[in-house]
Amino acid sequence: QEPQPLNLKDYIREVPDFPKPGILFYDISTLIRSAEAWQVATGRLARIISAWQPDLLAGIESRGFLTAAPLAQRLGCGFTMLRKPGKLPGETISLKYGLEYGEDELHIQADAIKPGQRVVVLDDLLATGGTLAASIDLLRKVGAEVVGASVLIELAGLKGRDKLDVPLNSLITYED
Ligand code: PRP
Ligand code: MG
Repeated sequence: QEPQPLNLKDYIREVPDFPKPGILFYDISTLIRSAEAWQVATGRLARIISAWQPDLLAGIESRGFLTAAPLAQRLGCGFTMLRKPGKLPGETISLKYGLEYGEDELHIQADAIKPGQRVVVLDDLLATGGTLAASIDLLRKVGAEVVGASVLIELAGLKGRDKLDVPLNSLITYED
């Protein structure tokens, strides 16, 4: 039960022209540094994600780790990492994906998932959806049943949601 209804948008700092001119950056630092607001946010995520009955949560480097790790603890799930190149030891499976400018690549350990495990993938923010869509593909490559995706912030105007073929939940939405 939440002590009082809390508008999480009040805790997101909007930083113009970061990381480059013309980009409005939605900064979650101000959310996670508030003990009260972060409790409320993780509590809301827990309620939504537990309904998908995951065995494992997957976090996308780096800001996705911030949501996935505490949630996994709270729900009694395991936690696995989707990481940028050169970070994970042992055999990894990778996927390249397009960004607005250039491309990026994510890796997962080949033995990260037991076949058929129910996995929810988490990130901080959904923009074009390229990162989450690639993450879902990668999880499937190693045998996951991806049962949902969850973000703190969705930039709805970019229609990233349309790239995903799993249920998506976002706590905070911006229209543009
Ligand atoms: C940001 C954000 C998401 C992704 C969303 O990550 O944290 O992961 O971009 O963009 P998309 O929906 O258009 O793919 P970034 O690559 O900036 O790195 P970070 O999480 O390591 O800060
Ligand atoms: Mg990221």
